[in-house]
Amino acid sequence: MKIIHFSDPHAGGAAEDWMAYIDKRWVGVFNYRFRRRFQHDLTLLEKAVTYILENRPDIAVCTGDLTSTGQPGEFEKTLTIMKPLLNSGIPLIYVPGNHDCYVRLRKCREAVENAVRELCDYEFNDLPLVKSFAGCDFIVVNESGPTNLFSSRGHMDKKTSDFVLDYCSQPKNRPRIIVGHYPLLEEHPLLRFRHDMGGHQQVAKLLREKNIDISLCGHIHKPFAKIDNNGRGEYSAGSVTRNGTIAEIEFSSQNNIFKYRKINLV
Ligand SMILES: [Fe+2]
Ligand SMILES: [Fe+2]
Repeated sequence: MKIIHFSDPHAGGAAEDWMAYIDKRWVGVFNYRFRRRFQHDLTLLEKAVTYILENRPDIAVCTGDLTSTGQPGEFEKTLTIMKPLLNSGIPLIYVPGNHDCYVRLRKCREAVENAVRELCDYEFNDLPLVKSFAGCDFIVVNESGPTNLFSSRGHMDKKTSDFVLDYCSQPKNRPRIIVGHYPLLEEHPLLRFRHDMGGHQQVAKLLREKNIDISLCGHIHKPFAKIDNNGRGEYSAGSVTRNGTIAEIEFSSQNNIFKYRKINLV
């Protein structure tokens, strides 16, 4: 079973309506204009799509932050690039990132809901859910929602945490893979309190105890693999458009191990 995991393309653009000058988007649009657009190269997302089409995994996983401020035009840019993937028949799991759920504005909320609908065979409001692909169970969660002006924090709400705990209390027939935007294993929460997540402690414990085999996440733009000798632990693909990296993870049911390979697209 082969997974190709990519994350955080962060398409961006100008303010799409006057409200953007008074809601949180002014921070994101400013940030994009003066910083992100020089750091994130969307042609690397095109390369990632080509790589996935050529290497045909059992499933592709995108762990969020398709956009910079969650505006419809930004989603449009990434969806256009990802279109060949949608036509390929390769199943895709996408979870929204904090930037995809930037503000409460109706048209932005509808844009992220539409992105989930276009990319996946489930709806935004169906999350959390479990999907089985190629002999593994994927626990798909959303930890992102609008936050205050200067926060990038995530939150695993009680409904989601209870869902995961309940699911993982059942007998385990297949490897369990949790897919979310935020890392569950945070080593320096005090240093990163603006970017951390809350409410996930019991789920993180399941990952540490290997009830959940692996966690696929984004948000941290540098790729990492905090894994044991059998490949169990947490993987961040890094930002595809910033680092040109994606992750290839293969599970062998014969020897019960996950094998990780960082793919450099540049
Ligand atoms: Fe991000
Ligand atoms: Fe993020």
